[in-house]
Amino acid sequence: MRVSATPESMKLNGSPADESDERVRRVDDWDADVLRRLADEYGTPLYVTDLDRVRDNYRRIDAAFDDEEVMYAAKANTARAVLEALDEEDARIECAAGGEIQRAVEAGADAGEIQYTAVNPPDEDLDYAVGLWRDGASGMTFNVGAESTVERLAERGFDGRLCFRVNPGIGAGHHEKVATGAHPKFGVPYDRVPELVERVRDEHEMEFVGLHAHMGSGMLDDDLGAHTEFVRRMSDLAEDCAPVEFVDIGGGFGVPYRDEEKPLDLSSLVEGIRGAFDADAELAVEPGRYVVGDAGILLMRVNTVKDTPETTVVGVDASMTTLVRPALYDAYHPIRNLSGGGETEPLTVGGPVCESTDVFCENRPMPRPERDDLLAVGVVGAYGYEMASQFHSQPRPADIGIQDGEVRPIRRRETVDDITEKESSF
Ligand SMILES: Cc1ncc(COP(=O)(O)O)c(C=O)c1O
Repeated sequence: MRVSATPESMKLNGSPADESDERVRRVDDWDADVLRRLADEYGTPLYVTDLDRVRDNYRRIDAAFDDEEVMYAAKANTARAVLEALDEEDARIECAAGGEIQRAVEAGADAGEIQYTAVNPPDEDLDYAVGLWRDGASGMTFNVGAESTVERLAERGFDGRLCFRVNPGIGAGHHEKVATGAHPKFGVPYDRVPELVERVRDEHEMEFVGLHAHMGSGMLDDDLGAHTEFVRRMSDLAEDCAPVEFVDIGGGFGVPYRDEEKPLDLSSLVEGIRGAFDADAELAVEPGRYVVGDAGILLMRVNTVKDTPETTVVGVDASMTTLVRPALYDAYHPIRNLSGGGETEPLTVGGPVCESTDVFCENRPMPRPERDDLLAVGVVGAYGYEMASQFHSQPRPADIGIQDGEVRPIRRRETVDDITEKESSF
């Protein structure tokens, strides 16, 4: 099948083409005919990933940060096809787990270019990463947030590139659960960093190269003030710890989920960052969501429409196991009825999981669907499939890639056998 994810006319948000904004792909911008055909051919629930959009998003943010290093934070979406597309764009990859490193390398990434952010790393992850480093990936940077991780690296004979993850004491983002910047779990407390750097320089063979912090996720223009303050703190710290090769200020650059939200103004963001940073060090960023968020859409089929005194309940075949963000973070995702729908009324859309958190929205005004209507959930490319689970014995859905007009499955649909094959009777 040859398709384009967006209609030829490119009527974005119902507005004329000349008002279109290439910085955002709304749920309405996807070609409904193409999505209906994909749902018919591959079944639902179904993720669709537009790899051309992934490339465009990466190119846009890489161009905006033209003097800085831009790494893709793999945790947002580690599909092989996504990692391969970004490898072709020459993106460096930031990995937060041994499994992510393995998948990035299998997708073509040069292990010596990877930055590994090790948060309470299990032994196997450290063994694997140090093994790659020893086998030739000498440029791999280990980003650690606790002194004990330094000791564990030293015990493994590591004397390569070391970066400290800092707890900057400032957090922000779309939900308190992703405002990592101020959470004690992450990073070395800000005030303790200089002394730790000193100790590494005195007592270890490792090469201290950088400082890193991630303030939180999902920031839009309103958060830029806090972000500038955060960058200023990191700049001061880099001066205290000089010489420092680079300061990595993390990711967290948001994408609009709601229609009324505007896409991030990248030039103001970059200007703010550069204005707040005057240490003698390179700057690095590691966006995840910005690169993949609006490149993904989730298709689901209506199986139940039930009137209740409180709301109209719409049952669908996707659930919190397919997309957990609404249940976990109260995240808003736009939903579009690709079959049309009737009068607008408040709808509560939920899946087959026997949990009250298994709802995509509650009382949201939307056209009333009928059984078998096809609904599309927008902006699911980041932390969508990536956080999918098999809870409730739900096999994970298929993921269909679109690239250069071609359509191909990039993750096959799981079956219940995929869940049970690793089990044995006692
Ligand atoms: C250390 C680090 N870097 C980068 C990211 C990517 O964040 P985002 O997808 O919001 O850009 C995260 C997300 O949690 C992170 O923890």
